Amino acid sequence: MSHSVAFVYHGATGARTVQNSIHRHTEQCRCIRLRTRKGSLTGRTHNCEVDLTLRELTTADAETLARWQTDALFCAHAGWKRRESQQQSVEWWRNQISHPDPHLIRLLALDTQRPVGYVDLHGSSRVERELGYLVGPSASWGHGLGTAAARAGVAFGFEGLGLTRIWAEAIEANAASVKVLRRLGMREIGFGHEEDFLGQTSRYVQFEIMAADWRQSVNLAAR
Ligand SMILES: CC(C)(COP(=O)(O)OP(=O)(O)OC[C@H]1O[C@@H](n2cnc3c(N)ncnc32)[C@H](O)[C@@H]1OP(=O)(O)O)[C@@H](O)C(=O)NCCC(=O)NCCS
Repeated sequence: MSHSVAFVYHGATGARTVQNSIHRHTEQCRCIRLRTRKGSLTGRTHNCEVDLTLRELTTADAETLARWQTDALFCAHAGWKRRESQQQSVEWWRNQISHPDPHLIRLLALDTQRPVGYVDLHGSSRVERELGYLVGPSASWGHGLGTAAARAGVAFGFEGLGLTRIWAEAIEANAASVKVLRRLGMREIGFGHEEDFLGQTSRYVQFEIMAADWRQSVNLAAR
């Protein structure tokens, strides 16, 4: 099926109440129409849409995430700590995936079968969560994947989890990340704390989007 995002989510992650809500909503919302402006790396041309699938992380994904962790540029932007060895990274990720934080839903974003990014939705509330997103490795940046992954994460939060509000923050100096959130139609709501980003002190810009506004924008885009 083209131009769709399938949420394939087998809820081994998260608290029981969260699992239940994931199952209930996921059944109703297997596919959601999403659009992005650019082609992916798999040969689609400029101005085509990127189709991403989100699915729950499995321990087999530890290798992929650990590989991204060897990418110095990626780690510097994402704030990921580089491990001493690839094996240490793999073990760290396996442990994270098999002993998940009950308030953190972590999803892998796939372009066809190829892992291209990661999305998470964090928080203990039933109605709102914080969105996180990244594209790995850094060689894949700038092709619309970050926008597609973040958009899929928002869609999953609203249509899969039944949230009413999603918020996110990006360091102001991380221009690509701020651009992704603005492009999603998120509303700027203020500033968070300051942090070092690539040697520069910068503040977090905070954004939010409400489910009703999201649905309206999806409906308009589908016309
Ligand atoms: C932020 C991130 C997800 C963006 O991924 P991506 O695949 O490059 O995103 P997109 O291609 O959809 O869009 C990025 C936009 O930022 C622009 N951009 C990239 N670097 C930029 C810079 N230094 N200054 C200004 N714009 C920049 C790109 O040109 C693109 O805009 P365009 O489509 O108008 O040309 C990716 O850089 C990443 O994973 N960074 C590390 C993790 C992170 O910062 N996550 C977000 C915080 S939760």
